[in-house]
Amino acid sequence: MCRSEGTISVSQFSRGSYPATRMRRVRRHSWSRQLVAESSLTASDLIWPWFVFDEKGRVAVGSLPGVERLGVDQIARQAAAACELGIPAIAIFPATDPKLKTDDAREAVNAENLVCRTVRAIKAEVGDSLGVICDVALDPYSSHGQDGLVRDGYVVNDETIEVLCQQAIIQAEAGCDIIAPSDMMDGRIGAIRAALDGAGKIDVQIMSYAAKYASAFYGPFRDAVGSSGNLAGGSKMTYQQSPTQSDEALHEVALDLAEGADSVMIKPGMPYLDIVHRVKATFAVPTFVYQVSGEYAMLSAAAQNGWLDRQQVMMESLTAFKRAGADGILTYFAPEAAEWLKS
Ligand code: PBG
Repeated sequence: MCRSEGTISVSQFSRGSYPATRMRRVRRHSWSRQLVAESSLTASDLIWPWFVFDEKGRVAVGSLPGVERLGVDQIARQAAAACELGIPAIAIFPATDPKLKTDDAREAVNAENLVCRTVRAIKAEVGDSLGVICDVALDPYSSHGQDGLVRDGYVVNDETIEVLCQQAIIQAEAGCDIIAPSDMMDGRIGAIRAALDGAGKIDVQIMSYAAKYASAFYGPFRDAVGSSGNLAGGSKMTYQQSPTQSDEALHEVALDLAEGADSVMIKPGMPYLDIVHRVKATFAVPTFVYQVSGEYAMLSAAAQNGWLDRQQVMMESLTAFKRAGADGILTYFAPEAAEWLKS
């Protein structure tokens, strides 16, 4: 037994007070763990994504177990369910009839398209009790599956923005509360803000997908909206961010805020928690994160195999987003998590 300056001797330990600080004290009981909790998750943190299609009823999405495509006839019931669960907002994604997909994605600007009809159906049922978010991008409508117009094999920026502005206006006119551009064209937030204001829609918010990465985790979503075949292996690397980038995400967010974004989104979620944290710490603005289809599919598949506990990984992953700094989470787990939080 040796005793030297600065080290704790075994004889001190034997007096029954090994560490002065016992981190486990506050962890011992559930009430105490709750009392010290630094972050929490409630149903009001959740945004529920809906896939809609131009048929009646509901059809399961194969690669997203538990997720369905909904016909417009299902919308009233679904909207009531969202309100009942205490979920504040939903996001709409259309599976467009392949016959309506064109090179110029003109269905995106048809005021009678599936998204606009869905928005009207929600608003007719629940009015302002539920926030409605609409994606702005051309991929659900384009025959090539790209988010913008393609000229000589390249997604062109400024010409695309003109279409995105019209898309934003028809969605706002249908009653959409939050326009969410997910296309990653440069300058689209400023242009869409001006277009909305010009159409008198000054109170319609913009939630910009500011830091959206070119990710392989979007695979099941592209199946759900039926755009994967259109994209045919093509990549979105010329406009979505490379997974190597972190400072670049801050640059994107700074630009979108300067152009008038009310809130920003980071996407995907779990592989990009560092970005969520940096964005929130740097800008202190409403910050959202999208737990994308591939993240949901991966957790669901492991749970189906009995390799992970579904409820536990769901709640842990959602809590981790809050800890990282997210104010809200767009997640396919939204209804299940809200249900779980209720019980
Ligand atoms: C469309 C869009 C995508 C997602 C949301 N909006 C796909 C993409 O960019 O290719 C993906 C969401 C998910 O995977 O859950 N621009």
